[in-house]
Amino acid sequence: MTNKTVRPILEMNAFDKQSPQTENVARRIANTGASSVLFYREPIEMVSAEGVWMTAKDGTRYLDFYNNVPCIGHSHPAVTAAVNKQIATLNTNTRYIVPIVDDYLEALKATFPKELSNVVLTCSGSEANDLAMRLACKHTNGTGFIVTESAYHGNTSLVTQVSPSALKNTSLPEHVIAIPPPAKKYYGDNIEQGFADQVQLAIEELKQRGIKVAALLFDSIFSSDGVFSEPEGFLSKAIEVIHQAGGLYIADEVQPGFARTGTSFWGFQNHNASPDIVTLGKPMGNGFPMAGVVTKPEYLDSFCADVGYFNTFGGNPVAAAAGLAVLKEIKDKNLQENARLMGDYLKAQLQSIAEQSDHIAEVRGSGLFLGIDICHPDSADKPDPEFTVNMIDQFREEHILIGAAGPDGSTLKLRPALCLTKTEADCFIDAFAKILKAS
Ligand SMILES: Cc1ncc(COP(=O)(O)O)c(C=O)c1O
Repeated sequence: MTNKTVRPILEMNAFDKQSPQTENVARRIANTGASSVLFYREPIEMVSAEGVWMTAKDGTRYLDFYNNVPCIGHSHPAVTAAVNKQIATLNTNTRYIVPIVDDYLEALKATFPKELSNVVLTCSGSEANDLAMRLACKHTNGTGFIVTESAYHGNTSLVTQVSPSALKNTSLPEHVIAIPPPAKKYYGDNIEQGFADQVQLAIEELKQRGIKVAALLFDSIFSSDGVFSEPEGFLSKAIEVIHQAGGLYIADEVQPGFARTGTSFWGFQNHNASPDIVTLGKPMGNGFPMAGVVTKPEYLDSFCADVGYFNTFGGNPVAAAAGLAVLKEIKDKNLQENARLMGDYLKAQLQSIAEQSDHIAEVRGSGLFLGIDICHPDSADKPDPEFTVNMIDQFREEHILIGAAGPDGSTLKLRPALCLTKTEADCFIDAFAKILKAS
């Protein structure tokens, strides 16, 4: 249990506003001020994208290994057609019956365990987590939350409090406890037991502070902590512990959801876990902003008896059209299986290159969600964030986009579109080998 300082997620691979600025960069910063969040030492101006590729203004085509939002590929024609058709026909809120919305809700629910039979659609993952937290507080009469040390769950006031990696200068509030992520370096070989013990300690610590626990809130692949998916099932004990204490388990699927891990459609399924509440977002509309909460009716019943929930844009028919197109494409093109095959291939190739390099401590992850730990050559236990940023810049020189994660920003995070081909995977593998060889 810690109040450890972690590197803010928005600072990773970020443009330094003190650096010289091109006209367009200066224009952006003049418009968005301190909230500007540009990537790279020299930001890139993008003009279009297709499949796993993005095209910059200077004509350079970049292989996008960063963005898990366009999960079926950038500018996908099926989503474009569905959105165009629906927006030209009808777009309104959920206070009318529009069957395409229920078509979507039913298609989405078919991917979940039966008991999770109610869905609330929102526009962002932050809104989804905000509602999930409120449901948990209402149901348990508790206010305490347990998260991981570098977690990020969104940007509302409530959700920022449970996002240690969003906090630059403040520490976590009293009702939030952050525990180390499920890594061997903290728990040795028995991650499942060690992690469950930390959850138990956190519950007791909250109790000592006079706070009743409301929920565990975990990203099912711990992406901002550095990507942790193994060993399969390691969350089960922690979930038993929270349930015994009367708290809920909220699975944040904003990052790993929609087939990315290859082995299952939802990240929590890799843990044989039964969440009480699941939150979704990012890839849900392949870039069309949509997100949601999937839960058991009883949690919504008691919450809605008090305040109810309405979201002007959440669950609009155009979002439903986009969401349906995404689900259909994943199924029709067997993209979950492609994620598994391409992910296994990438991981094996990268692991074999890593064996030849003293800059790589570990390659891990599941399907097309991989993490590569970058370390100092003298010790696998010494993270090297500077070398990581240099690698990100060198990948850019190789026309590949990639980002960082982890408490110090020393884990490369790989999340290409699920339609990745072997040729595209090979582009990344070759660049990885080249960059390490030159270092
Ligand atoms: C795990 C996780 N949960 C929630 C969110 C918030 O989603 P949004 O940015 O759509 O509000 C993010 C965003 O990065 C995330 O990574």
